Amino acid sequence: MQRHGEGLLVFSCVAATLALLAGRCFVAAEEGDRRSPPGIVSWETVSEARVPRTPGLVARGRAVYAARCAGCHGRKGDGKGPASLYLETAPRDFTSGTYKFRTTSQDGMPADLDLFRSISTGFPAYGMPSFRYLAVEDRWALVDHLKSFFPNWERIGAGGEVAVGEEPADDPESPERGRRLYQEKFDCVQCHGPFGRGDGPRAAELKDQWGRPVRPRDFTLGPIWRKAGASRRDTVRLLITGLPGTPMPSQVDQLADPRDLQDLWDVARYVERLESAETGSEK
Ligand code: HEC
Ligand code: HEC
Repeated sequence: MQRHGEGLLVFSCVAATLALLAGRCFVAAEEGDRRSPPGIVSWETVSEARVPRTPGLVARGRAVYAARCAGCHGRKGDGKGPASLYLETAPRDFTSGTYKFRTTSQDGMPADLDLFRSISTGFPAYGMPSFRYLAVEDRWALVDHLKSFFPNWERIGAGGEVAVGEEPADDPESPERGRRLYQEKFDCVQCHGPFGRGDGPRAAELKDQWGRPVRPRDFTLGPIWRKAGASRRDTVRLLITGLPGTPMPSQVDQLADPRDLQDLWDVARYVERLESAETGSEK
């Protein structure tokens, strides 16, 4: 009975993901605005008011998790659900307490809203569907349930909120400055390669915290492969937080003044240029 149920779940997870991915590619191709095809929102702009934690909400979190998440993330939250065997990117092990996608610094946990964002957008290109179709209440119930897999959460508390600030005024020189920064000042080339194809000298040896190979993003494949949003703001935030659990580092220590983020906005514009198919090939 149990086995049969799991098999079905695996099948529907995989089918749903493939359908989603195909749908997105078609929609993206039709759209004029290449930066944000419908369905791929800027990760940080996803936001819904917190629903109060009640005994009812806790029970709901447990039930929705068992139905929609355990097939990949495992009943115990250890990332070892039956469908994990089909995925190249491992579903997160929530017992490790490591979270990649966040608006807070690495010295603490992500914000509750960050988990809500990841659940809402999913990572369709990597196997996790978007769960935006679930009621807001259910998604908040899931946030609490995920936190319960890591008992130290409340003791450690959320890290400091990352201040991205306002985007500097438009400046035609910015992408070119970004190219020089990418190639000379920062160490992006080591992993992402000189032209952003994910083929830097260190690319082949990189592993994540769980010992699995992890590939630096090939920007020339386009924004559809981005995980936590592809807006400039998402990129600047990513360059501040890094991706905990992976070799992708925070760049804050490389800045002369950590409050002056102009260099990061320039690099974000260069990455955007690499990601746009019209110019990606010769840059
Ligand atoms: C079909 C498989 C699959 C299903 C179903 C699934 N996930 Fe995931 N999930 C993944 C994968 C794969 C990743 C890793 C993405 C990465 O690291 O690039 C992930 C990552 C995450 C993250 C990101 C954590 C971080 O590092 O910031 C959260 C949060 C998450 N999942 C929550 C959920 C919840 C809640 C559900 C159920 C509603 C769910 N997932 C269902 C595959 C799945
Ligand atoms: C030591 C290796 C390393 C260095 C140095 C590095 N990266 Fe990365 N980067 C990675 C890896 C690995 C990933 C993929 C992680 C994943 O998919 O979980 C990544 C992912 C990314 C992403 C995609 C994020 C997303 O949401 O999908 C961007 C954008 C990025 N890096 C930009 C940069 C820029 C710009 C620099 C230089 C300022 C840089 N990286 C330096 C290894 C590196």
